[in-house]
Amino acid sequence: MVITALARAKINLSLDIIRKRADGYHDLETVMQSIELYDRIEFRPDDREISLSAEGDAVPSGRDNLVCRAAEKLRTACSVQKGVQIRLIKNIPVGAGLGGGSSDAAAALLALNNMWQTGLTLEQLMKIGGQIGSDVPFCLLGGTAIARGRGELLEKLPPCPGMGLVLVKPPFAVSTASVYRAFSPAAVYKRPDNPALENAIRHSNINKIAKNLANVLEQVTIKMYPVIAEIKKKLVEAGAMAALMSGSGPTVFGLTADIESARAVAGRYSGFDGQVVLVTRTFNQEE
Ligand code: C5P
Repeated sequence: MVITALARAKINLSLDIIRKRADGYHDLETVMQSIELYDRIEFRPDDREISLSAEGDAVPSGRDNLVCRAAEKLRTACSVQKGVQIRLIKNIPVGAGLGGGSSDAAAALLALNNMWQTGLTLEQLMKIGGQIGSDVPFCLLGGTAIARGRGELLEKLPPCPGMGLVLVKPPFAVSTASVYRAFSPAAVYKRPDNPALENAIRHSNINKIAKNLANVLEQVTIKMYPVIAEIKKKLVEAGAMAALMSGSGPTVFGLTADIESARAVAGRYSGFDGQVVLVTRTFNQEE
């Protein structure tokens, strides 16, 4: 039995940092949204070994890959004796702020829970996922949600209205840890108004969603890579309703009312060398 899974990327429609914690992490309040951009992963049963082959954008190989870490953790937690051959076909840009690695790990937990018949609940998988990365619990849940704590305390929100997205990934990756390290509450110029954003989502009001996009990490990453501010400006000039950096960056998304408008924005957008420009849309299971 071969299981094929789609691991969807996420964007942060908002990201606020509440406090720095004693364990070095930060307590967040972030509205997250799955998008219709995915890696494809195949899982083939193996008697003993966990192995990985990857195609597409360069990803860490072997044990360093989050997919392998997810498989190892589930195997240990449930005392499984079997292995798995994993084939990862990568479409989500790596080190981009789109949660690609976390989503791969989440897809592996779901697929292997099925293949190995370990019978864990979604909640139990989320606990294991949280040990792999802060975004993994959201990736297991998918759709639209607000995440608090390190990212593991999730409250599902009603689905966002279907919206178009133009993603621009500059030709470099960003270290999440270095962005969080450089964050200073004193330097924040715009904190998200999450209740207003939630309200806009509940009323499917795309204009208000666009008005309430905000991410306190944006200024930190822009200081390191000023080109991110240029990309935001160019996306709005090309017709996006608003543009925001996702997560710790460096990918910027421009928001449009629908996929046709996103295609038009991408057509008008003229960027910089080496950028990847992708047109996609938000994703909700319920649609
Ligand atoms: O959990 P994950 O391994 O994805 O986090 C990567 C890095 O991002 C952490 O090492 C930490 O520096 C930072 N981080 C944080 N607070 C969070 C999530 C991530 O400080 N809530």
